[in-house]
Formats: sequence, C-alpha cells, structure tokens
Amino acid sequence: MAVPEHSAPVYEDLLRSAQRLSFDLRRIDLEDSDRDRHGMTPEWSPLFGTPTWTRMPEAARRELTRCEVAHYLGVAIWLEVALQIVLLRRNHSADPTRPDVKFLFNECADENLHSLMFADAIDRLGAGHYRLDRSLIFTGWLFRNFAWGEIAYAIVLAGEEMFDVMQRDWMADDRVAETVRRTSYVHVVEESRHMAFARQRIRDHLERISRTRRCLSTILIAVGTHLIAKGLINRRIYRGLGMEWRSVRAEIGRNEHHRMMYRRAAAPLVAFLDEEDLLNGFARWIYRKSNLL
Ligand SMILES: [Fe+2]
Ligand SMILES: [Fe+2]
Repeated sequence: MAVPEHSAPVYEDLLRSAQRLSFDLRRIDLEDSDRDRHGMTPEWSPLFGTPTWTRMPEAARRELTRCEVAHYLGVAIWLEVALQIVLLRRNHSADPTRPDVKFLFNECADENLHSLMFADAIDRLGAGHYRLDRSLIFTGWLFRNFAWGEIAYAIVLAGEEMFDVMQRDWMADDRVAETVRRTSYVHVVEESRHMAFARQRIRDHLERISRTRRCLSTILIAVGTHLIAKGLINRRIYRGLGMEWRSVRAEIGRNEHHRMMYRRAAAPLVAFLDEEDLLNGFARWIYRKSNLL
C-alpha cells in the first residue's frame, strides 16, 4: 500500500534518526555474565512473590530469572524474524525509493542484528533455547502467511511495546547481568523508532478501512497479543529447573503481582489501541483474560 502523502515526512524523519543513532552490534563486546546476577529484574518473574518464590534460596531465584529471560529473548527473536518475513513479503514489489520502504529495509537490518545480539546473550546466560508451544508455532505460520496491514503492524507493535517496558527496567537494574543490561539498552534505543514506524503504518492503514474490517482486525490483534503474552510463560523452563508445572501454573495464575506487571507492560499499547479505536468489548475481554488490561 502506497503511503498517504501527509505521512511521508514521518518516514523521512525516522530514516534520519536511524542514520544519526544506530549501534554496530557486531562491535559490541558483551562481557561474560556473572552467575551471581539475575537474568532480569526479579519483579518481572511471573513467580515473583508466590509461595514457591519465597521458599527459593536467592541463588535459585537468580537461576530462574536467567532461564526466564533467555526464553523471553527467544520469543523476541521469533517475533523479529516473523516481522521481517511479513513486512518484506508485503513490500517485495514496492517502489524501493519510497521513504517508508527505505525505513523498512533499515528496520530489518536492525532486527537481524538484534536477533544475533539476543542469541549471543542467551549463550552467555548459559540457559539455552526453549522450544515454543505448538499453538504459538501455528499462530506464527498464520501470521507469516495471512496477516494483513494493520494486523501485521499492530502485533509487531504489541511485542515491541511490551519488551520496551520490561527492558527499560532491566537496563537500569544493577541486580541484572551485564549482558542483559547492555542488550536492553541498545534495544530500547533502536526500537523507539520501530514503534513510531509501526504506529504510523497502522494509522495509514486505518484511514481507508471499513467498519467491518476494523472490527475483525481489532479482535485478531487482541488474539495475537494474547498468544504472545501467554507464550512468554513456557512450562519447559520450570520443568527444566525441576519444578512441578501444575503447581507453578496455579501459583502464576493466582499471582496478583504478575498481573500488575503484565498490565504495566501492556499499558502503552492499550492506550494506543484505544486512541486508534482498536479496542471493542470483545477485545477488552481478551486483554483482561491475558492479564493485559
Ligand atoms: Fe528488535
Ligand atoms: Fe523492532
């Protein structure tokens, strides 16, 4: 879809920002993560404050947050790759000199390096990769093959906004391993323009869609966001640490602190969706079910 004339200056500004401020991630020398630090701000652990958490010695909590963050970064890589597939495919035959297409090329370059940076961080944390649930893999297939305009950008934005809130905490927390603090800082800086790009692309698409399509997109965006939020909690992490998944799941389900953190992560996204009239009663119900509202 060609961009409306009035949004072209936004994409030109974003391109200039990318030229001014980008990191060469291949040159960033990440230090080895010391084992006496958390993988992420411990308050972001879905188990934080539960009876299991309270019983755990500090070393076990650190081990847990290192494994949890490795999985979060794995999901981030999965989203970054999906984003590139969808957006490059949709723009394969577009005029490459258009500012929005040029920005997209820049965004894909950023995302590739972010994925490499996160994969290195997972290695350094010593946690490894956690296989995703089949439901999420199937959703990824649907997303890659069928997501259209505003849905593709809004689901991408959902992932970016939630990671942004979390990573702002991690990058400033000296309880957190250096690898995660450093990668979070780089990601927060570079993603701020990706989020501006996604918001603008969503607005461009919404300008010309019918009520019916808006309603359908609103629900599909909520379902996609729900699955990402659910996918962050992976039973393989807890089983790998010798925990009983059923009781872990029940404790996370009852954990009011975890709900509050998820709502905090989703707050900027929900505010944007509300502003753009992409929240209806059913979508709100889905966001509440995923603890995002
Ligand atoms: Fe990224
Ligand atoms: Fe991004």
